[in-house]
Amino acid sequence: NLPTTFDAPVRIAIIGGTGISSLSREGYTPLANLTVTTPWGTPSSPILILQTPHGTPIAFLARHGSHHEFTPSEVPNRANIAALRKIGVRTIIAFSAVGSLREEIRPRDFVIPDQVIDRTKGIRPFTFFEGGLVSHVGFAEPFDSKVRAIVHKAGVEGVLQGGARLFEDGLLICMEGPQFSTRAESNLYRSWGGDVINMSALPEAKLAREAEIAYSMVCMATDYDCWRIGEEAVDVPAVMAHMKANAENARHLMAAVIEELQKEEYKDVVEAKHLVEGSKWGCSTA
Ligand code: ADE
Repeated sequence: NLPTTFDAPVRIAIIGGTGISSLSREGYTPLANLTVTTPWGTPSSPILILQTPHGTPIAFLARHGSHHEFTPSEVPNRANIAALRKIGVRTIIAFSAVGSLREEIRPRDFVIPDQVIDRTKGIRPFTFFEGGLVSHVGFAEPFDSKVRAIVHKAGVEGVLQGGARLFEDGLLICMEGPQFSTRAESNLYRSWGGDVINMSALPEAKLAREAEIAYSMVCMATDYDCWRIGEEAVDVPAVMAHMKANAENARHLMAAVIEELQKEEYKDVVEAKHLVEGSKWGCSTA
């Protein structure tokens, strides 16, 4: 029975992907559970506000819903990003389960992508700018380089358990689901230099950029996709076990990243002061 309002601005948000629908951790105190409405509808889940051991409030949103009720194609991305922006968020660390397109990226390894190729099919609403609101944002660097560096710094030393490793600068392929790729597609993505593949980075990252929120993604490998000789399309029980281990490591990494982000030296990064002003965001929403 948490309060449903929270008055102070919340700057840092975590978006949990498949396998991470809640965020509880020792030392983190739940403060509020917000049902935010936006011109684009309500987000996939209530936004949980937690207080860190340092006293900083952070937000948590479950991308696929509290009960995993939204497929990647159905996630209300505009409502999610607008709701986070509305409560003051300027930095998002988004977690996502991915398939690996590289031998060296094993299930349970984590990858921080620096690039993404859009293989969604245009069926997901992907912009806030329409209906007379005309604006363009740069997307050459789809993931915020400053936040990426902080995530890597926080995660690189001994945070991940069970032999899992953390890679940086990965090329992520974001495809439309819910079906997985064909083997020919999987090999095509490898030939493009793809490292990992998911269904959730876009349009989430594009909308965050439009909203001037510094967005970084953490990809958690659950499978080798279908390119690998001898790999059955996707082995569900194995994937479930990897997902469970990944969720545990995600909690360790989240805590380390949040700890790092709270340092005074990163105040301007967290507030996304480096992002270009100039979208028409302020016109329509708080
Ligand atoms: N998410 C997890 N594994 C995946 C895969 N192999 N392809 C697309 N999205 C995924």
